[in-house]
Amino acid sequence: MNIEDASFYSEEEVIKNEKDLVVERVPTGIPKLDELLQGGLPKRSITLVSGPPGSGKTMLCFHFVDEGIKRGERCLYITVDQWVNSILVHSHAAGFNFLPAIDNGLFKLMHVDLEKVSAYNEISDEILTGGYQRIVVDSLSPFADTPLVLGGSVEFEKAPIIDKLSAYPSETRPVARFHVRRLFDFLHKVPTTAMVTSELFDRTHSLSRDSVSEFLADGVILLDVDPTMDRRKLTIWKMRGTKHTLKPHDVLITEQGLVFKNELR
Ligand SMILES: Nc1ncnc2c1ncn2[C@@H]1O[C@H](COP(=O)(O)OP(=O)(O)OP(=O)(O)O)[C@@H](O)[C@H]1O
Ligand SMILES: [Mg+2]
Repeated sequence: MNIEDASFYSEEEVIKNEKDLVVERVPTGIPKLDELLQGGLPKRSITLVSGPPGSGKTMLCFHFVDEGIKRGERCLYITVDQWVNSILVHSHAAGFNFLPAIDNGLFKLMHVDLEKVSAYNEISDEILTGGYQRIVVDSLSPFADTPLVLGGSVEFEKAPIIDKLSAYPSETRPVARFHVRRLFDFLHKVPTTAMVTSELFDRTHSLSRDSVSEFLADGVILLDVDPTMDRRKLTIWKMRGTKHTLKPHDVLITEQGLVFKNELR
């Protein structure tokens, strides 16, 4: 199924059984974070991980997929900003080795070039047909910066037959909400739990660069750096269906990834 199929836009199926109303939990791979989240992220939810560059967003996503792999779950990591090799090297330095899971087919690391018209179909095909229990999109920001003409949108058919963003007229402005919503729609269509990242510089006006994903996401985890104090913070800002503290927690990035202070593995 892809975005051109009419069935993609079908209505959601409404829950009929009471047992399906209970929120199941998906462990993040960071025990202290799971404790703060009543056991983990809600199953089939989308969590936005937001923070400035270098704050540990990618690191948190590594824990999430690593935990999935350990549990024998199929995991997909869509990388837009970083190349696959860079992700592999970067994750290795933080104590993760994803090569065995890639070899045995449990983990797929997918680099997407959003300047290609086919990018959205590649992404939707992978999400909709890959049978993944965990999906990471790192990061969401370039999606929101893409002009509407790209990727099978309404205007796409009228667009010139050409595969590069630079060829499109400048008046085809980015339409953040459209892109973010469509990506979230892909994720909602399948029984997956997702983590998406967004760069954030100033949280006085929004909690993501596109300023819509924090509303569309089921959860928001904020990461922050305080260079003057040489300190990092993690805050659970929102998590639907979950009782949680809003208190910022001190975290560290080490050779074992992201750890809560005083909770070194
Ligand atoms: N082994 C390590 N020991 C200590 N700190 C590390 C280690 N590896 C990475 N770091 C820290 O982690 C930061 C990178 O974290 P990460 O890539 O998760 O951030 P990010 O929020 O995804 O950044 P970006 O927005 O640039 O993608 C580095 O800038 C460095 O400060
Ligand atoms: Mg990153």
